[in-house]
Amino acid sequence: MSDAAGAAVFKIAVFASGTGSNAQKIIDHFQAAGGAAVALVVCNKPDAGVLHIAGRHGIATLIIEKERFFRGDGYVALLQEKGIGLLVLAGFLWKVPPALVNAFPRRIVNIHPALLPKWGGRGMYGAHVHEAVRAAGEQETGITIHYVDEHYDHGDVIFQARCAVHPGDDATAIARAVQQLEHYHYPRVIEEVVKKLTVEE
Ligand code: GRF
Repeated sequence: MSDAAGAAVFKIAVFASGTGSNAQKIIDHFQAAGGAAVALVVCNKPDAGVLHIAGRHGIATLIIEKERFFRGDGYVALLQEKGIGLLVLAGFLWKVPPALVNAFPRRIVNIHPALLPKWGGRGMYGAHVHEAVRAAGEQETGITIHYVDEHYDHGDVIFQARCAVHPGDDATAIARAVQQLEHYHYPRVIEEVVKKLTVEE
């Protein structure tokens, strides 16, 4: 993969298992901005919407199997062979195994739809998060973009953004506000992470 001038492009692998709205924004962002490209979409659900997005953009896909991911090589060699420089989790619910964390130190990022350390951890995903925020009567919530380590929703925070929770907001209204933050900020924060990594290389 190279750009118009023939220079090697920094390759991102997006790990996603859902509809892929964030994956879409990330693909669009780098197609416009350059400097990096989504070279691979990794997914653990053969019927996930994100695979159609990858297909429309001609992006390679990899369907991963639980056994190999957790107890085999974690697909490390394959990702390295493809020259992947950054793993971006966008709606990927499996915990990342140590093999992968060790092979890509500070090269795996995740987005969580709340202000960690609040409302994170096992079982805290999607509507569960927003429902918990609503039930607790929080007046604000937001997004957290962080490096990934071996624990759920735990690595160093790179970026947070906030939005108000209004009285009467249900989980759907909260999800909508949070998703707007995700779509705007995640591609831009990834771009900054890529810039840092390319300076270090
Ligand atoms: C996002 O809310 C993200 O924060 C979470 O999973 C969701 C993915 O949504 N980790 P989408 O598939 O990108 O629409």
